[in-house]
Amino acid sequence: MLALSGIGQLVTNNGSIHGDRLGIIKDAAIVFEDGLVSWVGESNKVADHSNVAPINVAGRAVIPGFVDSHTHLVFAGDRSLEFAARMAGRPYAAGGIHTTVTATRAASDEQLIGNVERLANEALRSGTTTLEVKSGYGLSVRDEVRSLVAARSVTSETTFLGAHVVPSEMDVDDYVAQVCTEMLRACTPFAKWIDVFCDRGAFDVDQARQILNAGKAAGLGLRIHANQLQHGDGVRLGVELGAASCDHCTHVNDADIDALAGAHANTVATLLPVAELCTRSEFPNARRFIDAGVTVAIATDCNPGSSYTTSMQLVISLAVINMGMTADEAVWSATAGGATALRRDDIGRLTIGARADAVVLDAPSHTYLSYRPGVDQVQAVVRSGILAAGKWPVAL
Ligand code: NIG
Ligand code: FE
Repeated sequence: MLALSGIGQLVTNNGSIHGDRLGIIKDAAIVFEDGLVSWVGESNKVADHSNVAPINVAGRAVIPGFVDSHTHLVFAGDRSLEFAARMAGRPYAAGGIHTTVTATRAASDEQLIGNVERLANEALRSGTTTLEVKSGYGLSVRDEVRSLVAARSVTSETTFLGAHVVPSEMDVDDYVAQVCTEMLRACTPFAKWIDVFCDRGAFDVDQARQILNAGKAAGLGLRIHANQLQHGDGVRLGVELGAASCDHCTHVNDADIDALAGAHANTVATLLPVAELCTRSEFPNARRFIDAGVTVAIATDCNPGSSYTTSMQLVISLAVINMGMTADEAVWSATAGGATALRRDDIGRLTIGARADAVVLDAPSHTYLSYRPGVDQVQAVVRSGILAAGKWPVAL
């Protein structure tokens, strides 16, 4: 058992969509038992609900651990030269993925697992307690399987992204056929989701439909990289097929927003602003999605090409400062929103029975996550009811 008291503001995400959706409790306490939240309430009542002495966090805010629902953590090498060239004026293109494919294929299993674990630990230290991790830099049966096995060392939320780009040694039709048959069969035991990069320089909407339908028939949940580099039919395809999430959504029109907001739509829009930041592209307008009634998640897209960050704190500040989200909406989208994009209701919230994943901020409110951009606000990270990173505040 673990109990925290003296919480200045506790974000539970147990609010109403139309009011205070963060469900904030002031002067709060929380109790964790057997890896789950066993009680939340007012600080002065904690003794009745805990048989251990609570740790007094002295007015700090506590929020659910971040749910980063879109990452590409399995890779080798880096693309710092490509980044520097881009900052000197070269445009971003999907073709850079091949550089990482070459390095990933050359890496040993131990190196791939070591890289994933390093990045997952980096994410944990900055408050991320759940990660989705994609393959997609192997692009052969052997290397996609190896990538998913490496991803499984840090999460159960693994995604088969064999359809990231067409590997340079293969013809596109042959590759799509392989992704839908032999590669899918080999990867399905290690994956929960299937994803396709449906965009310029990657796969068109017909190929994406074929691949997602094959994944669905194999029992995988659907996700799609859509409308990142240009406008296309990817977002509407994702909604039509019942994907859990359409990711990027940078170039969207009213029909795309209407589809995501439709009465029967069950698809989250996951916005990935560091990809826009690092490719000097225009940010998506999150206000437009939210005002239309779309459920929005925000995530890092951590990958070596377009967004080499594990920081959900940076994502939150960009979402608020550059994408029109309120400070409250961004925190919801980084926690409960990410959970919804993974179709999970046991994470991204601090309610009784939820997983005991929480972040003690070194700040009096969650607003500081956007108010103090670039400053790490994490004091301590609790995962499954145990201090997993950072340290407890020293009692004054
Ligand atoms: O989500 N868009 C496709 N994939 C990654 C980038 C991949 C890369 O450049 O290595 C993304 O931004
Ligand atoms: Fe991505």
